[in-house]
Amino acid sequence: MIAVACAAAAGAASADDAPLPKIAAKKPLKVGFAQTESNNPWRLAETKSFKDVAAKCGWQMVMTDANSSAAKQVSDIRSMIAQKVDLLVFPPREEKPLAPVILEAKKAGIPVILVDRNVDQSLAVAGKDYITFIGSDFIDQGKRAADWLIKATNGNAKIIELEGSTGASAANDRKKGFDDEIASHSGMQIIASQSGDFARDKGRQVMETLLQSHPEVTAVYAHNDEMALGAIAAIKAAGKVPGKDITIVSIDGTRGALEAIKAGELGADVQSSPFFGPISCEVAEKYAKGESIGPWVKVSDKFYDKSNVDASMKDGY
Ligand code: AHR
Repeated sequence: MIAVACAAAAGAASADDAPLPKIAAKKPLKVGFAQTESNNPWRLAETKSFKDVAAKCGWQMVMTDANSSAAKQVSDIRSMIAQKVDLLVFPPREEKPLAPVILEAKKAGIPVILVDRNVDQSLAVAGKDYITFIGSDFIDQGKRAADWLIKATNGNAKIIELEGSTGASAANDRKKGFDDEIASHSGMQIIASQSGDFARDKGRQVMETLLQSHPEVTAVYAHNDEMALGAIAAIKAAGKVPGKDITIVSIDGTRGALEAIKAGELGADVQSSPFFGPISCEVAEKYAKGESIGPWVKVSDKFYDKSNVDASMKDGY
């Protein structure tokens, strides 16, 4: 379930003071959705959520896949601008490289809604350069993962942190939330922190290497489930027992992660909902009617551990 609340306004000055473009009152509406990559269940669920809502919302979708490249996502969006789509909706792969195309879309009179990840607010401003950011509080997700790990380890852990894609708001903020939260607990020590690019195989490879250089590791914080599952494979391959020798906490709420909690290998998982289709439709319709939309439409996330995993399996994707 997605709960919506409008958070406080973002502060920085806009690059352009012209009013935001309007959403045309027509059906079908040509909507461009520029996906970052399709290499994990979270991304597939996000894309499906837009495909599923399209007919109901009267959206004719133009969809692209940037194959894990911010440069390709920029050129995909430029081509949607050239095609004169009526609305652009996308998760910016990285915070900085995707900001300029938002300003280009605004100049071309195309309204933009960002979903899932945000851009650097010094480069493009929610509510001024684009309608809004619809997404989770990634800092809070990191904090919730840290709180669980502090409790589970009695405040003593040698932690390997598997970071998400470098430059992504999801990676930056999940790191900040976690690192800040454990900072006041002297027994919680990050012994290595490296990017696994939010991908299972990269997470496995990074963990494999770090297990060799840091055999003293007792905990893993993975910025997403795919890297956590990769780490679990590496831990098993190294002859250690995930969930016993090494306590693992992650973020997303995929089916694979919920099954890993059931198996006792993953300790806990902070949900990060990928189901942005329906809420994007709702926000776009409100905006088209002239209702005011806050700069951040916040999505609330659940939390899974062994106490509620059986009842929560239906949430997995
Ligand atoms: O931006 C959200 C993150 O990106 C999800 O945690 C991850 O699985 C995805 O690739």
